Amino acid sequence: MKVVGGSACLSLAKGVAQELAVARVDVAFERHPGGFPDGERYVRLLGSVAGEHVVLVQTTHPDSMIVELFLLADAIRDAGAQRLTAVVPYFGYGRQDKRFLDGEAVSAKAMAKHIAIDCDELLTMAFHNPSLLRTFPIPARDVSGIPALARYLKSAKVDVLLAPDENAIRFAKEASAVARIPYDFLVKERIDSYTVKVEPKVLRVKGKSVAILDDVISTGGTIATATKELQKQGARRVVAACVHGLFVDKAEENLKPCDDVIATDTIQSKFTKVSVAPEFASAIRALD
Ligand code: R5P
Repeated sequence: MKVVGGSACLSLAKGVAQELAVARVDVAFERHPGGFPDGERYVRLLGSVAGEHVVLVQTTHPDSMIVELFLLADAIRDAGAQRLTAVVPYFGYGRQDKRFLDGEAVSAKAMAKHIAIDCDELLTMAFHNPSLLRTFPIPARDVSGIPALARYLKSAKVDVLLAPDENAIRFAKEASAVARIPYDFLVKERIDSYTVKVEPKVLRVKGKSVAILDDVISTGGTIATATKELQKQGARRVVAACVHGLFVDKAEENLKPCDDVIATDTIQSKFTKVSVAPEFASAIRALD
């Protein structure tokens, strides 16, 4: 087995290779210093993958990383890999999981169709709608990143976990079981892409260190609203934790009231403090 990392996931790919104790094949991402003047991606495998089971690790965000994933998969196949497992830690376009309006693309399905051209199977994480994975043209599995976050939050001496909306309850429940920290939840109403409000609710957080746990932080609106509520109710410390840290638009400003922000390495950012390499490595070991 060999591991190849796309440029969105170099450190995670390194971690996965280390966990599995297998070699990683380096990739050149620029043919000319500074890359192509028009911004197009370039990939070249710098080692052999002939006859190997290759694990290709690449998040599909931002868009240019999707192109890189397809180029790498194509190069790996052409170089004679015998099996290709795509590890897509953050599956960009996963949230458009159905046709909400006539004529729309089901983006998640379109992505899967193209991944299936060269890849034999797919592992992803905190996928928006895990039941959709069963409809993909290749075997696809959602791997949980929550144990990695839970271990970190336990060591950070968090007293309570908070799901900022009903969708996040399953994550808080899972983390609570791993870290043995109690959890509570809020009920969120989304007004628009940037604004949310929460239903009034008494939380037992006075004087406590609380971690808000979500699958994704995008604009930070959800976390900002939950943080305000926790601080109003007397929480001593508020930590925002997520699997996928997109941090778009004014996210950093929205997250300023938090005492700490923690994200995993599914998307690399300055808030990446937790690696999900052990989680992907055990999912790879469990493949048929
Ligand atoms: C929604 O259901 C997700 O779990 C997140 O709560 C949401 O994507 C966060 O978005 P934002 O950071 O823009 O509030």
